[in-house]
Amino acid sequence: MPVESLFATDVYRARVRHRGIAALNAELLRESRQLRVDDAAGRRWSKARYPGGYTSYGSVNRLHRLSPTFARLRDLITPHVTAFGRALCLDLAGRPLEMTDCWVNIMSRGVAHGWHLHPLSTISGTYYVQTPPGSAGIKFEDPRLDRMMAAPPRRARAPRAARVWVSVPARAGTLVLFESWLRHEVPPNSARAERVSVSFNYGWF
Ligand code: NI
Repeated sequence: MPVESLFATDVYRARVRHRGIAALNAELLRESRQLRVDDAAGRRWSKARYPGGYTSYGSVNRLHRLSPTFARLRDLITPHVTAFGRALCLDLAGRPLEMTDCWVNIMSRGVAHGWHLHPLSTISGTYYVQTPPGSAGIKFEDPRLDRMMAAPPRRARAPRAARVWVSVPARAGTLVLFESWLRHEVPPNSARAERVSVSFNYGWF
């Protein structure tokens, strides 16, 4: 077919490989739960904006600067972000992509996170710490959707690249990266045990 695919939207997904990753995960889980206990401001923030769940997004959102455990996670994530930036052909004028924000999300059963994007950042993503069976994935939306107006819907069995909404599964030990302008949501979590993740932003200035 003489068809060229233009304006592709790239999403990066990889397993984080590291000799001590299981121990690091256990420590991330422990610190995340401890933070929920200690962070009264975050619990208040979550009550209003993240019903049923806990996130430190509105309170303790630079965990990579506070905790050596989260700093270690950052050191494992950064090479992936750098590689993704290269794959996206980003011209960063020689500046590195650096983590600017890093926060924890704990979702109990039924907790959802509505559609949003991450303003003022370049690359955003999530690392999954604990994903019991039934954990919700992350769902992305075609950024051209608001221009499609009378465009016909895509066939139900259309390949992922042609769909308007695409889900990427959440698996412990993996990370998902995307450009920060790409709208996404986490649909209601149906896992019985807690789904725990660490989200982050990277910027280049
Ligand atoms: Ni997000």
